Amino acid sequence: MDEPIDCRFSLKGKVAVVTGGGRGLGQALALGLAASGAAVAVVGRTPSALDVTVEKVSAMGGRALAVRADLADLQEIEKIVTAVLSANGRIDVLVNNAAAGAPFKPAEEVTPEEWDAVMRTNLRGTFFLTTRVAREMKTTGGGSIINITSIMGEVAGPKASVYCASKGGLRQLTRTLAVEWARYGIRVNAVAPGYIRTELTGELQDNLELNEYVMTRTPMRRWATPGEFVGAVVYLASDASSFQTGQTIVVDGGWTAW
Ligand SMILES: NC(=O)c1ccc[n+]([C@@H]2O[C@H](COP(=O)([O-])OP(=O)(O)OC[C@H]3O[C@@H](n4cnc5c(N)ncnc54)[C@H](OP(=O)(O)O)[C@@H]3O)[C@@H](O)[C@H]2O)c1
Repeated sequence: MDEPIDCRFSLKGKVAVVTGGGRGLGQALALGLAASGAAVAVVGRTPSALDVTVEKVSAMGGRALAVRADLADLQEIEKIVTAVLSANGRIDVLVNNAAAGAPFKPAEEVTPEEWDAVMRTNLRGTFFLTTRVAREMKTTGGGSIINITSIMGEVAGPKASVYCASKGGLRQLTRTLAVEWARYGIRVNAVAPGYIRTELTGELQDNLELNEYVMTRTPMRRWATPGEFVGAVVYLASDASSFQTGQTIVVDGGWTAW
């Protein structure tokens, strides 16, 4: 018989890795996973930011580990996995949240350097971290991988072609890896956020015209806060979603509904 529903959302005894866990959405997700019982490891390039998340988790009575690594450098992937395995022995949940900001300009003005800078983190680094972690998950009977995509992986984002391509690519990886790895007990899903007040969208928030566009285009007439994505991610990380794989949960205040 299935466990009671509140137990199925528990992450007690699980180990979660959150890339980009030092600020913004990643920090909120790390805190949410820890509050649900998981030991968390946060990955990023800025140790001081990672330390803030670790301190917040510790203050809640949780367990957290900071792993300084640059996803754009494939040499660093092994370092992430080794650090988490030495501290926790296993990886049950991987949240691929880290992403590079992308140029906001007409597609024909994008340079090869700008394209590569986005893809190196958002797709290449994320892909190779995921395949490395999946190898571990296979040995422990499975796990849950959650890709943070975007509404820009669902619908068009004029002047955001590179970002859209990276997020659309991650959406397709979500489907493909879910099918490849279902037999190993590894589930792969995505959460596609609408506009959130974080550092990534700082310039947009400060631009009166663009801020107004976001507010009026979103049926709920507001920006999201990072905490509003915790529910979807905890659900996908936990046994509450045990029959769900290859899917994207869009959390966007209604943006893609019209
Ligand atoms: N904010 C929004 O409106 C919005 C909307 C839809 C989707 N999203 C997605 O949500 C996720 C989080 O966004 P956010 O708004 O919280 O962004 P953010 O404030 O810019 O945070 C991005 C995080 O990723 C880390 N990161 C970036 N490049 C990295 C690299 N090469 N290696 C390791 N870590 C790296 C950053 O840490 P360091 O710089 O210290 O490495 C930072 O912690 C992203 O995938 C984003 O695309 C955001």
